[in-house]
Amino acid sequence: MFKLLTSVLALTTTVAVAEKFGNFYNYWLYNSTANIFDLTRYGSSNPITLPTLSNRNSSIIIAPERSALVIVDMQNYFLDPELSPGAKAGRAAVAPTLQLIDAFRAKGMPIAWVQWGIDEYDLTHLLSPSFLYGFSDGKHANTSFCSEMGTVHNGTIDAGKLLCRGAWNAQQYGPLYTSYLQGLEMGTDFYFNKNTLSGLWGVFTPFEQWLHDTGVTTLFFGGVNTDQCVFGTMIDAVYKGYDTIMVEDICGTTSPYYATQMVVYNIGGDGWTTNTSMILPALA
Ligand SMILES: *[C@@H]1O[C@H](CO)[C@@H](O)[C@H](O)[C@H]1NC(C)=O
Ligand SMILES: *[C@@H]1O[C@H](CO)[C@@H](O)[C@H](O)[C@H]1NC(C)=O
Ligand SMILES: *[C@@H]1O[C@H](CO)[C@@H](O)[C@H](O)[C@H]1NC(C)=O
Ligand SMILES: *[C@@H]1O[C@H](CO)[C@@H](O)[C@H](O)[C@H]1NC(C)=O
Ligand SMILES: *[C@@H]1O[C@H](CO)[C@@H](O)[C@H](O)[C@H]1NC(C)=O
Repeated sequence: MFKLLTSVLALTTTVAVAEKFGNFYNYWLYNSTANIFDLTRYGSSNPITLPTLSNRNSSIIIAPERSALVIVDMQNYFLDPELSPGAKAGRAAVAPTLQLIDAFRAKGMPIAWVQWGIDEYDLTHLLSPSFLYGFSDGKHANTSFCSEMGTVHNGTIDAGKLLCRGAWNAQQYGPLYTSYLQGLEMGTDFYFNKNTLSGLWGVFTPFEQWLHDTGVTTLFFGGVNTDQCVFGTMIDAVYKGYDTIMVEDICGTTSPYYATQMVVYNIGGDGWTTNTSMILPALA
């Protein structure tokens, strides 16, 4: 009897148990020996292990069933060369974004397009003075959201009302729009309007409703601007208990370099940062 007890004790001390961070429903399992965070929660029929640059280059194990790629504000307003001549970093993010979209779709992981799409109710009830001013010409309130932008591309395109729902300037930029339309047809892509920097600010946004309904808990992020709408949505995702992974090379900004450094530093601590060059091989 005594012998049996000691051998049971010996067994329990040699089999390492991964450390659990979280509660009954929402948790990570961390294996400090392997430096791997298991984010699958209820397991997965097809778990994927991905390298990151955070927490001493830890790896993460994700459940494709509960993971999504979130693309924030890759809209004509922010990326068209005529409307945003300075958005070089954002335009450079387009090619790796398209690659990652294809890789996610191939693994059955959805794409969530989260972007400005102002409507009448937002205009009259929800928009804060700060953003109404920030998106104006700095002088006149009637130049802000949903004001007419006129035509672009030598008069061939009506840009429509500024970041207003359905306007051309509020559509995904260039090849991303084509990819999005394909994704809608395939049933892999989902679209969510937002009315402030964050797609998760407010009582229950359309994007949050979708996360709730689908049970998606692990979010990979890209978009523009890194330090504004992407960071705003990422930090709210952290606050609300979602796994937040910033994919650095599919983010871009027109802000000074230190704005990006702040985001990489903080999301690297609150979640993870990684790069398409690191994760694409594991998704192939
Ligand atoms: C943690 O990782 C180590 C090294 O890869 C492995 O030997 C061990 O079985 C793992 N523990 C758990 C609980 O998965
Ligand atoms: C993490 O990986 C990067 C890139 O390979 C490397 O430069 C860095 O030194 C690594 N950091 C740690 C803590 O191992
Ligand atoms: C916008 O408001 C200014 C006064 O603040 C006015 O002069 C201008 O005509 C208005 N523009 C439009 C398009 O209504
Ligand atoms: C507009 O027209 C000019 C002159 O023909 C041309 O150089 C330019 O590329 C055109 N711009 C766009 C966006 O089509
Ligand atoms: C991230 O990926 C880009 C390609 O999109 C590559 O140019 C860059 O070197 C990579 N950065 C790191 C840190 O791996």
